[in-house]
Amino acid sequence: MLRVQVLVLLLAAVLLYPTRIDRVSSHEESGEWHCDSGSEIRVQAEFRPGIITLDGKVDDWKDVDGSDFPLLPALDPDADKEYNAGKMTLKAVHDGKEAYFMLQVNGNYAYTQGDSNKCASVALMFQIGENATYHRMGGCEEGPDSCTNKTCHGHEVDIMHFSLGNAIPGRLYGGNPANRFGHLVDVYAWNPHCRYLDGISPLGNDTSAQNDWQGSWWHSSLTDHSGFIKDDSPYASEGQKGTYYFEFSRPLRTMDRLQQDAQFTIGKSNKLSAAFWYPMDSKPWHGSGHYSISCDWIPLDFISGGGSEVAQKSPWGAATAFSLLFSVVALCVSIFIGHRFSSTSRTANFIPMDNL
Ligand SMILES: *[C@@H]1O[C@H](CO)[C@@H](O)[C@H](O)[C@H]1NC(C)=O
Ligand SMILES: *[C@@H]1O[C@H](CO)[C@@H](O)[C@H](O)[C@H]1NC(C)=O
Ligand SMILES: *[C@@H]1O[C@H](CO)[C@@H](O)[C@H](O)[C@H]1NC(C)=O
Repeated sequence: MLRVQVLVLLLAAVLLYPTRIDRVSSHEESGEWHCDSGSEIRVQAEFRPGIITLDGKVDDWKDVDGSDFPLLPALDPDADKEYNAGKMTLKAVHDGKEAYFMLQVNGNYAYTQGDSNKCASVALMFQIGENATYHRMGGCEEGPDSCTNKTCHGHEVDIMHFSLGNAIPGRLYGGNPANRFGHLVDVYAWNPHCRYLDGISPLGNDTSAQNDWQGSWWHSSLTDHSGFIKDDSPYASEGQKGTYYFEFSRPLRTMDRLQQDAQFTIGKSNKLSAAFWYPMDSKPWHGSGHYSISCDWIPLDFISGGGSEVAQKSPWGAATAFSLLFSVVALCVSIFIGHRFSSTSRTANFIPMDNL
């Protein structure tokens, strides 16, 4: 029995192993664009309920494994032009209802009140439509006057962009109906020229759309008192060495009915990317001057809760554990009955049926 179970477990391990070493398939597109990401990283969002507070501070992430990505210019991913202060660390978890993301990157403190282009900034991008490419934000071929949800169907990407120029560190942003307070916006796009806030579209607006994202930021040079207010800006002195932290959350599923949000499912995978803007040499950044974690999508796996990975992925794991338990119980019961039978037959008198 035990040998069969070991065999089944081995077989399950062999069957499951290839899914862990899948390569990120890099693709080359027509024209000058060339991507050979070679990255084998899969971001794993495990079930870790009740550990994350969205306050920009990241001590609560210390037991969560992350992935490190070199930051290359998004439009010219050349290793010689890598962001020189270090890699970006990306972590993700979920609690069964919400997905949580943490981005961390070194950078001297830069903050100019009211001018987001002179502050650091981050974005997350997810595939929605099955034909949406990483390159060119969905890659729809239509121009700004011809892209619609019909002509670009299948090329939808979902973007969350957090700008810091008016965002107080440690405070929560986003999560508002229809993006009213522009620090943390929920956007969808078909290509870089066809980008819209959720609910806004070339064919008409939909007021039911929501900004489902929430987020907060922090920098390690900031000193935490009882909370910052706008009058404390710029919150720390310019140019201090340190690390930027960004935390975001979003429900796994949203009320979107227009293909403007990616939907996350426990046990399934999505495709994501992350971008970073920074005022290099104190010069304001411009929209396309961002760094990216890869020149192609990175797979993001939502892992279901409980037990070890093999046990949750393989129905055989549970079945063999149960059969082992069952056989142990059966053995105990038979020993017990055998013992009872032999002892009662020795001590108690046998009562023939016809005497009752
Ligand atoms: C994606 O592209 C394939 C091949 O061109 C096509 O058959 C499919 O319908 C497209 N999917 C969507 C959602 O447009
Ligand atoms: C949709 O909303 C945008 C931004 O608020 C506005 O400029 C545009 O006129 C609206 N379009 C329609 C058709 O209402
Ligand atoms: C396109 O968007 C409009 C306006 O939001 C909506 O009424 C329409 O149903 C959408 N069409 C498709 C094919 O999704």
